[in-house]
Amino acid sequence: MMQSSFDQETSRRLHVAIVMDGNGRWAEARGLPRLAGHRRGVRAARRIVEAAPGLGIGTLTLFAFSSDNWKRPRPEVDGLMALLGSFLRREAAALATHDVRLSLIGRRDRLPLPLRAAATRAENETAGARGLHLRLAVDYSARDMILRAARRRVSGSVPSETFAARLGQAYGGAGAPDVDLLIRAGGEQRLSDFLLWESAYAELRFVARMWPDFAPADLAAALDDFHARDRRFGALPLAVSTPSTRSR
Ligand code: IPE
Ligand code: IPE
Ligand code: MG
Repeated sequence: MMQSSFDQETSRRLHVAIVMDGNGRWAEARGLPRLAGHRRGVRAARRIVEAAPGLGIGTLTLFAFSSDNWKRPRPEVDGLMALLGSFLRREAAALATHDVRLSLIGRRDRLPLPLRAAATRAENETAGARGLHLRLAVDYSARDMILRAARRRVSGSVPSETFAARLGQAYGGAGAPDVDLLIRAGGEQRLSDFLLWESAYAELRFVARMWPDFAPADLAAALDDFHARDRRFGALPLAVSTPSTRSR
């Protein structure tokens, strides 16, 4: 029997996923190179990671680089890889101190070696942390992940939890509970191949603000809105399904 790789305590807190979009437009609007926007984006991410545990978030998945982002000009791709590597090298110790466990999800085989090494080191250094599970999605494609898990030979019927655990193993081994709230900064209203399986019942929130300007107050506002929503998972609202009103 396959075990899920997240503990019960993590499952009790929220899983929030964020598409950190809008770095390029933020920079272009200021006459700066796109990479300057990505650098500011890293600062925004740091602030959000710090704020997350205090807002009831147990798992935070950040979309940093999609498998389709390889299509961008070489200098931008190289700059992004360098930024991610230096983030992992510089922040690993601070993450461990703040009880943050880091995992990279996505394909690793196409990443530059120094980035791969920095990721493994950061994962090892933070492995014991339980305050927040920070999952950084790099060279990530949800469709590719699902395809890889589905291609593994399956004998007999596989319960969906087992398949979900297998998905995590196909893509970095860092499983997580389903996404509760998916936020996208930068004004676009699409998923761009992010967490398609885990977001089956995620609440969606699209924010016009570009990612470099996204602040902890924006995250807090998103969570306030989330808590006011009625999640039904296909069932009836609680008030309707109580025994006194249910038809016999
Ligand atoms: C998101 O910002 C970061 C990555 C995709 C790496 P973009 O670079 O997509 O910024 P926009 O959407 O062009 O403004
Ligand atoms: C999604 O943003 C990927 C990340 C934020 C890392 P994109 O900018 O790549 O998505 P599209 O091209 O607008 O769909
Ligand atoms: Mg974009």
